[in-house]
Amino acid sequence: MTLTFVVEHLDPELGPWSALEYACIARESKENGAQFLLTSVPASLQMPENLARMEELKVERRSVEEIFADRKSRVCLLDPAATIELSPADRDDFDVFLFGGILGDDPPRDRTSELRKKGYAGRRLGPQQMTTDTAVRVTRMIAQQRIPLDKIPYLDHPELRINEHESTEMPFRYVKSSDGKPIMPEGMVELIKKDADKAVDDLF
Ligand SMILES: C[S@@+](CC[C@H](N)C(=O)[O-])C[C@H]1O[C@@H](n2cnc3c(N)ncnc32)[C@H](O)[C@@H]1O
Repeated sequence: MTLTFVVEHLDPELGPWSALEYACIARESKENGAQFLLTSVPASLQMPENLARMEELKVERRSVEEIFADRKSRVCLLDPAATIELSPADRDDFDVFLFGGILGDDPPRDRTSELRKKGYAGRRLGPQQMTTDTAVRVTRMIAQQRIPLDKIPYLDHPELRINEHESTEMPFRYVKSSDGKPIMPEGMVELIKKDADKAVDDLF
């Protein structure tokens, strides 16, 4: 079966940060011949414009449980609390890799537990919290490109310069690109800078 990435959307809203992450996952999945499903999206949810017009994004009202009810054993939950790390050989056992559609938080609140309760096999991607698009990227590198978890170049807690006076530390692990920068969705750096400026403005 085609390699499939499923992000089960767990928040009542879908804000600009998630929209950039999901658009990035959709684009990279398509480029790599994998399928991407965004599941459990309530009918009432207003899709941000950048996502609504993406052909490569498949939005599902149904949950992962309904869609893959007959193939549950082929679904692997990427779970920061799992005891086994994901390895290239796992691709032989799983076709569907499932992620929590949750924004990263610091400290992590373990909302992935909402999916863990459903009883899927779980695998971890190391001890550090990743953004959802990073977790999908790392899973793709392991399951599709067969690169072991410890051979992937990472950047932990990178600093982003907001302006000449301020910078902000991102409390996540990212994949390091060939230019030494963290790989982030298109538009994310600008969004982080805008949010940081707003937070500063709100102080006055
Ligand atoms: C931003 S993380 C959310 C982590 C979080 N703070 C929580 O409440 O569970 C979004 C998703 O990426 C995946 N993920 C992130 N880091 C991971 C890791 N180190 N190992 C396995 N999965 C990870 C999980 O599927 C998680 O639900």
